[in-house]
Amino acid sequence: MHARTIIEPFRIKSVEPIRQTTRAQRETLLRAAQYNLFLLPADDVLIDLLTDSGTGAMSTHQWAAIMEGDESYAGSRSFDRFQASVQDIFGYKHVIPTHQGRAAERILFGVTCKKGDVVPNNTHFDTTRANVEYTGAEAVDLLIPEGRHPEQSHPFKGNMDVAALEALIARVGRERIPLVMLTITNNSGGGQPVSMENARQVSGVCRRHGIPLYFDACRFAENAWFIKQREEGYGEKTPKEIAQEMFRLGDGCTMSAKKDGMANIGGFLCTNDDLLAQQEKNLLILTEGYPTYGGLAGRDLEAIAVGLQEALAEDYLRYRIASTAYLGKAIAAAGVPIVQPPGGHAIYMDARSFLPHIPSSQFPGVALACELYLEGGVRSVEIGTLMFAAAAQMDLVRLAMPRRVYTQSHVDYLVEVILEVWKNREAIHGMKLTYEAPFLRHFTAHLEPL
Ligand SMILES: Cc1ncc(COP(=O)(O)O)c(C=O)c1O
Repeated sequence: MHARTIIEPFRIKSVEPIRQTTRAQRETLLRAAQYNLFLLPADDVLIDLLTDSGTGAMSTHQWAAIMEGDESYAGSRSFDRFQASVQDIFGYKHVIPTHQGRAAERILFGVTCKKGDVVPNNTHFDTTRANVEYTGAEAVDLLIPEGRHPEQSHPFKGNMDVAALEALIARVGRERIPLVMLTITNNSGGGQPVSMENARQVSGVCRRHGIPLYFDACRFAENAWFIKQREEGYGEKTPKEIAQEMFRLGDGCTMSAKKDGMANIGGFLCTNDDLLAQQEKNLLILTEGYPTYGGLAGRDLEAIAVGLQEALAEDYLRYRIASTAYLGKAIAAAGVPIVQPPGGHAIYMDARSFLPHIPSSQFPGVALACELYLEGGVRSVEIGTLMFAAAAQMDLVRLAMPRRVYTQSHVDYLVEVILEVWKNREAIHGMKLTYEAPFLRHFTAHLEPL
């Protein structure tokens, strides 16, 4: 039988209650949170899609491994298992644990970049951009043009524009580019994958110019699944073989294990360069910890060692990507404007098209996110004018799916909530800011409906 119903490839052994509230209660709660969903207590949220980072559920094997955690300061068994698991997939010579992805970024850019340098990426994630800029270097996004149009479909919308990379190298010179990065999948561009062919071409350009290529590998397993599904010649390969092939095209990576590491905390930095690894480990000791734990507990290293392998399991990836796509397809079929095609870890709704009567200056993304909460207790995040102010090119609302946390009936409920909001969209009002911090204002802003 070829079943159409998506079933979770796990059964539930431990449950965490979630709390139903009434609309009247949510109105009071939202007012108390100054219409900023970051300021809501998580207990007052029914379905929390704020982020897929560190919010996943661990498996029985991960919990069992946690009990094996060796908390020795130096040379722990847990580090050996962690390193073996990372090297099995990523293949790089040096594996440096960090407390999360941005710590790996800070160390990598801290030792490789200086003022006047330029770092190309398909799209820098916000912490990646901030860590590049903190060294005085310039972060340049070189996404293919298709990646910038929400409604336009393309199988590998996360690809880098290879001609633009060549042109950049010709313009600024190889000496000013300490490394090139490829983010798989491209989070800021809608969770869209990068093809093997594109990675091969980018790697070819880098090797020709003698520039190291690094992967921002947070969602490497989801990227491998998209390649298996969409790229010719990969249908018969396993996600692990695909990931291994991709990492062979590079010289190292940064990783947040809070995504496809299936862990609640952790990350790492890899490189094949002995000298660089030495400098990185010296900096690690200064700010994160000894190189065999890097700011993590031995038990965290164990959870990541197991989680990385589980993230590559085909039945898991099939369910994961199908479940995200199911949500996207169901709401798009009813007319809800979303970034197409659905990404790996999230669905992004286009709030400007959803609420055309609300100008960007009145934060349509925030208005939509607030309404989803009022309607059904769903927490999402605005990625638009509140987050980026004048630099916002779009007003999106991201529904990020935690890994292995919600079931198909939760997704059906989400569809119901979103379609109810869609039906009543003309009654939604814009918002105005009543307080903003000088930096990263979206985390702490206060707003009020107009
Ligand atoms: C593509 C990408 N890079 C880097 C990071 C940073 O990782 P962390 O939050 O673990 O510091 C994230 C986190 O969301 C991400 O999505």
